[in-house]
Amino acid sequence: MPSHPEIPRHIAIIMDGNGRWAKERGMPRLEGHRAGAESVREVMESCIKLGVEYLTLYAFSSENWSRPATEVTALMGLLNRFLAEKAKELDRQGVRLLAIGQLDRLPETTRKLVQKIQEQTAHHTTMTLVLALSYGGREEIVSAARSLAEDAVAGIIHPEAIDGELFASRLQTAGIPDPDLLIRTSGEMRVSNFLLWQISYAEMVIVKTFWPDFRQGHLMDAVAEYQRRHRRFGAL
Ligand code: IPE
Ligand code: IPE
Ligand code: MG
Repeated sequence: MPSHPEIPRHIAIIMDGNGRWAKERGMPRLEGHRAGAESVREVMESCIKLGVEYLTLYAFSSENWSRPATEVTALMGLLNRFLAEKAKELDRQGVRLLAIGQLDRLPETTRKLVQKIQEQTAHHTTMTLVLALSYGGREEIVSAARSLAEDAVAGIIHPEAIDGELFASRLQTAGIPDPDLLIRTSGEMRVSNFLLWQISYAEMVIVKTFWPDFRQGHLMDAVAEYQRRHRRFGAL
């Protein structure tokens, strides 16, 4: 018997290995990123079918800005295309889009597109797709700390009133339950600045598969692995 046969409410994915997938095939890295878009489509469909409420995808990290300009530009181009193409589909699927990260660092076209789709899909309830764009967990935590400090200095809150709940309410993920399941593809055993606060009790599943090869079956396997885990949250 699985310890908790329920479906994770929130799945977060570090979509890694696009470059290596392409390299293995003697293709430019960009082809790996392009192929990864199909994995996103399939994983979204599967999550909707399973009844997952929140799917968070790590698409671009704060640190990814340090990649060569050609790759950054190409990634932003792909992101624009993905968003433009997805807008209608999200509407059809009843999916709400939410972007987290330092969105002001994104090119204006991307930022505007994200904003427009967020507004268009705000009323949807089937699933929330959280896209982490120019996202860094440390940056998010620092920004929450800064906002609390500003309020404390202005006398709006008392430092003693700051607890975990108040802190979490200043994160960009305010109102979203913490991820139950964190998946990372391509075999790397690290979190790379993703949702540092939110993953404190997430069950981690690391798969060797590169992201462009990740399919519905891999997601089902990860969920089955999650269901075999015994979540204790520090208790017995
Ligand atoms: C993940 O694939 C996509 C992004 C980080 C944008 P990578 O580009 O990191 O691919 P690898 O890890 O170099 O293979
Ligand atoms: C993490 O992958 C970021 C995303 C998947 C968007 P990276 O490829 O950037 O992480 P590192 O450099 O291997 O830690
Ligand atoms: Mg990588």
